[in-house]
Amino acid sequence: MAPSKREQFGSSFSFIMAVAGSAIGLGNIWRFPYMVGEHGGGAFIVAYIICCLFLAVPCFVCEAVIGRRGRSDVYGSLERLAPKSKWKWLGGVSVFAAFVIVSFYCVVGGWSLDFLVRSLSGRLSHGDPDGASILFKRMSSGTLEPLSMYVTFLLATALIVIGGIKKGIERFTKITTPLLFFLMVAMVIYSVSLPGASAGVEYLVRSDFSKMDAAGWACALGQAFFSMSLGIGAVLVYSSFMKKEDSILKGGLWTAASDTFFAIISGFAIMPAVFAAGFEPSAGPSLVYETLPFIFAKMGIEAPVLSWIMTMVFFLAILSAALTSSISMFEVCIEYLVHRFGIKRWQAAVAFLVPILMLGVPCVLSFGPLSEFKIFGLTVFDLCDFVCSNVLMTLGALAFAIFVGWRMKRADVFDEFTNGGTLGFSAKVFRPLYFFVRWLVPPIIIIIFISNLL
Ligand code: PHE
Repeated sequence: MAPSKREQFGSSFSFIMAVAGSAIGLGNIWRFPYMVGEHGGGAFIVAYIICCLFLAVPCFVCEAVIGRRGRSDVYGSLERLAPKSKWKWLGGVSVFAAFVIVSFYCVVGGWSLDFLVRSLSGRLSHGDPDGASILFKRMSSGTLEPLSMYVTFLLATALIVIGGIKKGIERFTKITTPLLFFLMVAMVIYSVSLPGASAGVEYLVRSDFSKMDAAGWACALGQAFFSMSLGIGAVLVYSSFMKKEDSILKGGLWTAASDTFFAIISGFAIMPAVFAAGFEPSAGPSLVYETLPFIFAKMGIEAPVLSWIMTMVFFLAILSAALTSSISMFEVCIEYLVHRFGIKRWQAAVAFLVPILMLGVPCVLSFGPLSEFKIFGLTVFDLCDFVCSNVLMTLGALAFAIFVGWRMKRADVFDEFTNGGTLGFSAKVFRPLYFFVRWLVPPIIIIIFISNLL
C-alpha cells in the first residue's frame, strides 16, 4: 500500500489513547499483582519500574520509529526499511508471538466476561466473602463455561478488529480507559481500609532485594515488555497509523507513565485485600480472580446496592481494557495477512481464528481437565505465557532495538524521531537515547535473558 493512502489516527490524543489502551490491560490488572506476589513484593515493583524506564521506553521508541517510517505491517515495514535482507523474517516471528499471546490472553479475557455475567445477577456482590475464592476455581476448572466465554471474547476481538482501526478502536478506547482509572482508584481506597490490609501495603512498599534473583529480573523485564505491548510489533503497527506531525517520544512517555501507574494502583487494589482475606500472595495466575470476589462480597455486606453497581461497572471496565489489548495483538496478525496476501480484513480474521482456537482450547482447559498435562513441567497456558513473555517478547524487543541502533541509518532515525528536526525536546534527547539504544539496551537485555536461562 502506498504510504500516503494509509489510514491515520485522527489526532495525537487518539494515538496515545489507542497505544495506552493496548498497554493497559490484563497485564496490569491480572498479571502484575500476581507477579509481584510471586517475586516478593516491593523489590519486584522497583525492578519493574527500572526496566520500564530504561529498557521499555527506549524499545517503545524503536518500534514506533520502525512503524511510522515503514508505514506497513511488521513484515512489510522491515522489508521496506531493509530491502533484500533477512530482517523481514523478524516480522514472521512477531506475528507468531502475537498469535500465541492472543490464544492465551483471551482465556483471561473470558474469565472477565464470565465475572461480568455473574455480577449482573448480584452473585458476586452478595456472596459469602469466605467462600469467594472457590467461585473462581469452580468456574475456571470447568469445560463448557470457560470455553464459551473464551470463544465469545475472541469473537468480540475479531469483530472489533474487522471494523477497522478508526471505527473500532478509537471509539472504544476514549471512553473505557478513563473509566477504569476512576474505578481502580476507588478500589484502592476501599481495599486499603479493610481490616488486616496494612500487611499488604507493607508488603508492597518493603523492598527485599534478596528475593530478586536473575529469574526475578527476567520476569520484571518480561512484565515490562508485556505490559507496554512491546516485542511483538503491536506498537509498531499502531505507529504505522500515526500522523507525521505527532511526537514519538511523547507517545512513549505517556504510555509508560499511564501503564506503570495502572499497574501500581492495581497492586494496591489487590494486595491489601489478599492479606485481609488471608490468601497466599504467591498463588499465581488465579490470585486476582480469587481476590476480587472477596473484595466485592465484603463490600456487599455494608453497601449491597453500591457494591452491586461497582462490581458490574468494574468488570465491564476490565473487559474493555482486555479488549483494547487483545485487538492490538490481533491487529498485528491481520495486518500481516492483509498486506502480504492482499486479502480482506474479515478474511484474514477468519484465517487466524482457526489456529487461535486450536491453541486456545488447550489453554482454557489448562485450569481444568488438562491441568495435569504438562510440557517441561508447565501447563499449556503457563507454557504459552512463559514462551511469549520471557522469550519471544524479550528477544523481539531486543531485535527491534538492534535494528534501529545498528541497521537503520542514524540520520533516518533522527529524522523520524524528531519529525525532521522540528521537535526541539526530542532533538535534545536524541543523542543520549540513541547511544543508549545502541550500546546499553542490547547487552542489558542479553545479560538478563542469559542469566535467567543459566
Ligand atoms: N499490554 C497488554 C496488557 O497489559 C498485553 C499486550 C501484550 C498487548 C502484547 C499487546 C501486545 O494487558
